[in-house]
Amino acid sequence: LGRGSFPEGFVFGTATSAYQVEGMADKDGRGPSIWDVFIKAPGNSDSTPSLPPSEGVNPIMHLVRLPWTSITVTRIGNVSVDPLACIEIMGSGKVNWKGVAYYNRLINYMLKRGITPYANLNHYDLPQGLQEKYNGWLGHEVVKDFADYAEFCFKTFGDRVKNWMTFNEPRVIAALGYDDGYFAPGRCSKEFGNCTAGDSSTEPYIAAHNLILCHAAAVQRYKAKYQVKQKGRIGILLDFVWYEPLTRSKADNYAAQRARDFHVGWFMHPLVYGEYPKTMQNIVGKRLPKFTKEEVKMVKGSFDYVGINQYTAYYMYEPHPAKPKGVGYQQDWNAGFACKMLSLLAFPQTDILDVEITNERNGVPIGPREHSYWLYNVPWGLYKAVTYIKEHYGNPTVILAENGMDDPGNITLPEGLHDTTRINYFKGYMSELKKTIDEGANVIGYFAWSLLDNFEWRLGYTSRFGIVYVDFKTLKRYPKMSAYWFKQILERRKH
Ligand code: FCB
Repeated sequence: LGRGSFPEGFVFGTATSAYQVEGMADKDGRGPSIWDVFIKAPGNSDSTPSLPPSEGVNPIMHLVRLPWTSITVTRIGNVSVDPLACIEIMGSGKVNWKGVAYYNRLINYMLKRGITPYANLNHYDLPQGLQEKYNGWLGHEVVKDFADYAEFCFKTFGDRVKNWMTFNEPRVIAALGYDDGYFAPGRCSKEFGNCTAGDSSTEPYIAAHNLILCHAAAVQRYKAKYQVKQKGRIGILLDFVWYEPLTRSKADNYAAQRARDFHVGWFMHPLVYGEYPKTMQNIVGKRLPKFTKEEVKMVKGSFDYVGINQYTAYYMYEPHPAKPKGVGYQQDWNAGFACKMLSLLAFPQTDILDVEITNERNGVPIGPREHSYWLYNVPWGLYKAVTYIKEHYGNPTVILAENGMDDPGNITLPEGLHDTTRINYFKGYMSELKKTIDEGANVIGYFAWSLLDNFEWRLGYTSRFGIVYVDFKTLKRYPKMSAYWFKQILERRKH
């Protein structure tokens, strides 16, 4: 990597998520998820996750160590039988033991192969039953239900799982699910695609608030009842697109700062300081929910480590008559969505923040654009993002939990295996990560997204992030060059 090796004990792994790799959507007692419903609406996804069963074990997992995986409540609690939280179902003897057995097989298999499981309790999905019962993340009732579900997982898997995360990217759930409606449950008050009527001016903030409380309540249970005995740790995964000021002007600096506050600060601030960032309080005003004194106690400091998902960076600037709106996106927006949509996808609150987002400065792109419409290769963005967390949030323990780039879905074999661009991407980002550690950032691990080509949400199977190629028809898996490269890094570290 050019900068010497990572510290001893530094963890390497790959990440996947339940909904994106499991398939078996209606098998073995799994109940419906909000994503099952969402992707059925015309235009919401290029394809549906109907892959056949993966049998609970992954034959190529031994290639890389320490995969990050996620558990989904839709497989454990049989919510199709009873639209209540799984613990109540469990209480009445309705645990979906087939789902529990699946995760037991997965965990045991990993351990047998010398792989340490890092388990995340929620990656975007939610039982559809809870969506219908109390409007999902908008209903305060979800806090107790989530904590109960988390506790069931601690109790059931915690003898073997020592590294927990509560949520993946709650910002994405709140902003894309409730502001622009681009992700499930697809609510917004604007006119995009297949949105169902919602209120973008309040709902993202309510959903985020409940997500934070769900997280904190789960952590509280873990700390009170399981942590000491099981000797584990728990945290949360936050996405952090780096926002660089377009110019050195005060106005652009402040625009970028507002954007960071509304992005990573939305969650990091409450977790570290017990309140939302001042910029958010000022701009969102009364529409921003408040934490009660009791809740502050529960939320503040509710993590042992933070996972940062870091892929790309954009420029931010204060709107200016001389600078066109959303510059850059007009030219290369593919797939026929409105260009406004892209800036919303990257950053849904641009309207109220009064910031503009662009991918270029003086006509020069921020980095080489990769296959997807949103991902630019900007390794220094990772450096800045991790350093920002170190400097603004008291140098917490950090895992770089997702990082990677995609190839087009229709790339065939054998071309799909020659992913030298991906290797270069990894090299650049890992090297910047190493630099943050040399400068004192408390980073303890790096996870590549993703182990397998998988279901990339709205993009369906048209985007391949895996270091292992998956033939989506036969499900045969072929390690790409990047998988062998990754393996080499790990082997060298053993000696
Ligand atoms: C992250 C998501 C993950 C995948 C990658 C490309 O934001 O957590 O599921 O979609 O982006």
